[in-house]
Amino acid sequence: MPATVVLGTQWGDEGKGKVTDLLGAEMDAVVRYQGGHNAGHTIVVEGESFALQLLPSGILYDTVTPVIGNGVVIDPSVLLAEIEAVEKRGVSTEKLIVSGSAHMIMPYHLELDRMTERFLGKNKLGTTKRGIGPAYADKASRIGLRIQDLLDEKIFIQKLEVVLKEKNAILAKVYNRLPISLDQVVSDYLGKYAPKISPMIADTVGFLQQSYANNKNILLEGAQATFLDLDHGTYPFVTSSNPTAGGACTGSGLGPRQIDAVIGVAKAYLTRVGSGPFPTELTDEVGDLLVDRGHEYGTNTGRRRRTGWFDLVLLGQAARINSLSELAITKLDVLDPLESVKVCVAYELDGDRFDTMPYHQSTFHKVKPVYEELPGWQCDTTHITESDKLPKEARELIALIEERSSVHVGYVGTGPGRDQLVRM
Ligand code: IMP
Repeated sequence: MPATVVLGTQWGDEGKGKVTDLLGAEMDAVVRYQGGHNAGHTIVVEGESFALQLLPSGILYDTVTPVIGNGVVIDPSVLLAEIEAVEKRGVSTEKLIVSGSAHMIMPYHLELDRMTERFLGKNKLGTTKRGIGPAYADKASRIGLRIQDLLDEKIFIQKLEVVLKEKNAILAKVYNRLPISLDQVVSDYLGKYAPKISPMIADTVGFLQQSYANNKNILLEGAQATFLDLDHGTYPFVTSSNPTAGGACTGSGLGPRQIDAVIGVAKAYLTRVGSGPFPTELTDEVGDLLVDRGHEYGTNTGRRRRTGWFDLVLLGQAARINSLSELAITKLDVLDPLESVKVCVAYELDGDRFDTMPYHQSTFHKVKPVYEELPGWQCDTTHITESDKLPKEARELIALIEERSSVHVGYVGTGPGRDQLVRM
């Protein structure tokens, strides 16, 4: 398995960290390929919980080279704080390498993220306010500052002077905010961050290509998920990068034919943070139960997640656009007490049935789910580690998911711990 992608098939928070962690032991490199510290991966190792934002989850293995790829946007202060925090807990970050082509989140990106959301009012996207969207926008506008600019003081200041003039004009004239001081940014980025980050900067594309040529195992770790993808998600309620499988190539520098497995992670129900359409959303006591039992509060922002029933229409779309080779179903145990479990198998609108995701956003906003109701299992699955020990009803749910998505379910998660995983 030279290069494997692990990505989310829903709206994020599927428990990808658990799957990447499981595979981490067999890997030589674990790569983050998009997103930034809007992500939050929780990994529980020997009862200790690690919440990672920017660091690849492979950081927890000393045999792995953790790589932050060119597709990621990096807030250097956050990266350094996270490194310090894990180091304090005895995790070595010595092998971490960071792409010189990754873009940096600058102080004006944070300010603009907050201001744009405020101005959107009730139409706000519900971003994590980490500056992610504005940083990717500058990348596309070709005015971004990259990690490699930390190595060249003259270029850094030259670029910053130009961009800051425009950003400060926007902050002052549109948003009535105080300007950001050039000297302060230079002092923080070049004075404080550059000396610490410089030793980690590397040609990550060259490193990954060399690793691939040497038959090393590479894991590409997606953040956010398929329906938060800038192109394939529920635009505009999306993030500003491409978590889908294609993004793993652009964000790392590995080519499509070098990827030989794409594992999609799906929670046994759905969650979403922030705004946007959600056909199977539950606002009743079942929704509350999923929040309580699933601890559905953002790792990152603490926001309560919206919850809903599993959606096979979305999964089918995710399976196709990511060319999934395998599925991992997580948090099955959250459904343990339910008398019955509903699964959305199609949508309906004005007498029309949709077996696949409607392309028009207005339609997607209005569709109603068509459910199949399966009996619940009403027993504790948290101790189960063998597939034939799973209750019959749970196996039926998994069989339905496999049949309708045409993707084999390889793993089922039954709790947060590293061992609470059934290989199917
Ligand atoms: P942004 O990525 O901060 O720009 O936020 C855009 C949308 O993506 C918002 O709805 C966020 O709640 C959502 N989002 C961003 N990162 C994550 C994540 O790691 N998990 C779940 N939702 C996320």
